[in-house]
Amino acid sequence: MQIEKIRGFRDFYPEDMDVEKFIFRKAEEVAEAFGFRRIDFPSLEYLDLYRLKSGEELLQQTYSFVDKGGREVTLIPEATPSTVRMVTSRKDLPKPLRWYSFPKVWRYEEPQAGRYREHYQFNADIFGSDSPEADAEVIALASSILDALGLSNVYEIRINSRKIMEEIIGGITSSDPFSIFSIIDRYHKISRDDFTDQLRSAGVGEDGVSMIVDLCSGTLGIDEIEKITGRGSDEITRMGLVKDLLGSYGVRNVRYDFSIVRGLSYYTGIVFEAYDRSGQFRAILGGGRYDNLASLMSGDSVPAVGFGMGDAVISLLLRRENVQIPRQRKSVYMCRVGKVNSGTLNEYSRKLRDVGIDVTVEIMERGLSSQLKYASAINADYALIFGERDLEKGNVTLRDMRTGEQETVSLDSIVDHVVSKAR
Ligand code: HAM
Repeated sequence: MQIEKIRGFRDFYPEDMDVEKFIFRKAEEVAEAFGFRRIDFPSLEYLDLYRLKSGEELLQQTYSFVDKGGREVTLIPEATPSTVRMVTSRKDLPKPLRWYSFPKVWRYEEPQAGRYREHYQFNADIFGSDSPEADAEVIALASSILDALGLSNVYEIRINSRKIMEEIIGGITSSDPFSIFSIIDRYHKISRDDFTDQLRSAGVGEDGVSMIVDLCSGTLGIDEIEKITGRGSDEITRMGLVKDLLGSYGVRNVRYDFSIVRGLSYYTGIVFEAYDRSGQFRAILGGGRYDNLASLMSGDSVPAVGFGMGDAVISLLLRRENVQIPRQRKSVYMCRVGKVNSGTLNEYSRKLRDVGIDVTVEIMERGLSSQLKYASAINADYALIFGERDLEKGNVTLRDMRTGEQETVSLDSIVDHVVSKAR
């Protein structure tokens, strides 16, 4: 009996992993180029860590259990609480900290395109700065990663502010603003009727309901909002500044969207998400400012801003947009014909690997045509054919796997010759 894999979980075959590796590599390269440094943390944490401020929805989605020592633990559903724990556990770290991580996270959600129960989630956060420059920097980083992945024409960034929304909602209802945010967060996921019903049930009156609908649908723009919240509201000025700063980074595909409030409860200021412009998938990434989580966890106040970006929607976009994933290194397949000592193949493989060329060696007893077929199947750039008769004259044959062209190369010039070849 074959046991199936668990619903919502993925296998990654080598060709799938090539896509993942491309995402990991680009995210890492761009983060490092912005001065971010990688951290990591356990995959299992106390469930209490998420009780503080992740919100009821995420808590409901945890893969949690009581371990053999009677502890209530969970596979991590997000990276932020562990990261904040690391920040607050060390007082000697020079602020601001720019940290990134790439953990797997687990959420018991309904699987759909781009949403699984296990995913890799790139996170980047700045700790110790409450400036709009920090807000702009993390958004610019997110945008630069998407650009580096070849997706520059595919996405837009939508920004909003919890502070502005709190101001507006405070004028509409005395209900807890977060209970309204969690409904607004569902605006694009539920029908208009369900949306308005849920707002009414949360205590919002008819005028408030229609204002929230106008906000979420984009009928009310920033100018009207300035009038509602009072001209010159500090947060509106700050958002304008962040947008200007983003312009200086060359990030122009940014717009206000008052339906973006984010589902997690810890955000305190700017919130943002990146979306596929065609609207095919759910959010590509999301984040925001969360200035109170550190003080809730440790009593130390550490302002923070950052975002999380899953691998799933990006890998779907890369496939949909047919982005070619560049291979990093040249590759050679070593073939063997007749009585050829495998030690000879190993010796030359080592020389080639030493200069940064990937080498795969024939380890079967089979004819040359099968070997070449295999070399082609594994996408080798070149085949280096060690034939018994060639070797007697001190030569091997180099075959370009793309064009099929072959040339004779002397043994002592193999390395230089392969190095000089294009990929
Ligand atoms: P989040 O919006 O819950 O934020 O998740 C961030 C991103 O993770 C989403 O935009 C999406 O790309 C991906 N994602 C979330 N759930 C799934 C899923 N079930 N399957 C595939 N991908 C998924 C957070 O987790 C925050 N902790 C991010 C953050 C970091 N905020 C500040 N710093």
